[in-house]
Amino acid sequence: MTEQTPVNETTAVKATPTLPDAQTVTEIEHYTDRLFRFRCTRPASLRFRSGEFVMIGLMGDPHPETGKQKPLLRAYSIASPSWDEELEFYSIKVQDGPLTSKLQHIQPGDKIILRPKPVGTLVHDALLPGKRIWFFATGTGFAPFASLLREPQTYEDYDEVIITHTCREVGELTYGRDLIESLKHDELLNEVIGEGFWKKIKYYPTTTREESPKMGRITDLMKSGEAFKDLDVEPLNPESDRAMICGNLAFNLELKEMFEEYGLEEGANSKPAHYVVEKAFLD
Ligand code: A2P
Repeated sequence: MTEQTPVNETTAVKATPTLPDAQTVTEIEHYTDRLFRFRCTRPASLRFRSGEFVMIGLMGDPHPETGKQKPLLRAYSIASPSWDEELEFYSIKVQDGPLTSKLQHIQPGDKIILRPKPVGTLVHDALLPGKRIWFFATGTGFAPFASLLREPQTYEDYDEVIITHTCREVGELTYGRDLIESLKHDELLNEVIGEGFWKKIKYYPTTTREESPKMGRITDLMKSGEAFKDLDVEPLNPESDRAMICGNLAFNLELKEMFEEYGLEEGANSKPAHYVVEKAFLD
C-alpha cells in the first residue's frame, strides 16, 4: 500500500515550481523615491557585450480564478560590464507600474527572473573607428553607459570619452556621479588601460528642474554652443566623433535630428556607422 502524505503547509511550499531562470539579488541601493540600483547573481552561461539589455522581472500576481502566475518581464540594460561576475541594473520606481511597483521592494536573497538572451545596439561593434566617443543619457538611460564606462574597450578604442547626463533633479545624478568617481580606483581598468586612464573622461551632468551648477537640456546646450564651449571640444563631426544615445523618446529623436545635421549616420550591428540609439525602457 502506498503511504499517503497529508498535504500540509510544508509539502505545499515544496510543490511550488521554482522560478524559471531565477537569479538571486545580492545588493540594493536606493537613490531617490524614483530611482534604485541592484545587483544579482550572473548565470554561468550568460555572455553579453557591454551596453546590451536583457529581459528581467518577477512573477505576477496569481490569476483571481485560475490561480496561475505569469512572469512580468521588462527590458533592462545591463549596467555592469561584460567581465563582471555579477549583474547590475539601474531602475526607475513607478508607484503604479506593473513591475517596478514590486521590484522596488526586493531584498538581498530574493529571486528575480532573468532571461539570458542579451541584445541591443549600444555596442562598440555597431560603430566605425573614431577618436572621441560621446555617451548621451537622460534619467535611467545612464545604465548602458555604466556598463560601457567600465569596459576596457571604450578606452582602448578612443582617445576621449564624453558622457552627458540630463536629469530633472540633482539626486538623480548620484548613481552616475558615484560610478564615474569609482573609476579612478578601478583596479582592472587602471591596470589594463594604464594609471590615470580616467583622465580621458569628460563628465557633463545637467539638471532641468532643480538648481545645479549646469542647468538645461543637453540638446539646448549643444544648439547654443554652450556645451561645446564648456567641454572645450568642436561640435560632433563624422571624421572623429562617435556617439551613443539612450534616453526618452523625444530626446532620442531630437539628438538624431541634430546628428544628421552634423553629417553623422546611424549604425547597427550589421552595418557599423557613426552613432547608435536605444530607448531607455520605462515601466
Ligand atoms: P525636462 O525637465 O525639461 O523635461 P524624464 O524624467 O521625463 O524622462 O526626463 C529626464 C530628463 O530628460 C529631464 O531633465 C528632461 O527635461 C530631459 N528631456 C526630456 N525630453 C528631452 C528632449 N527632447 N531633449 C533633451 N532633454 C529632454
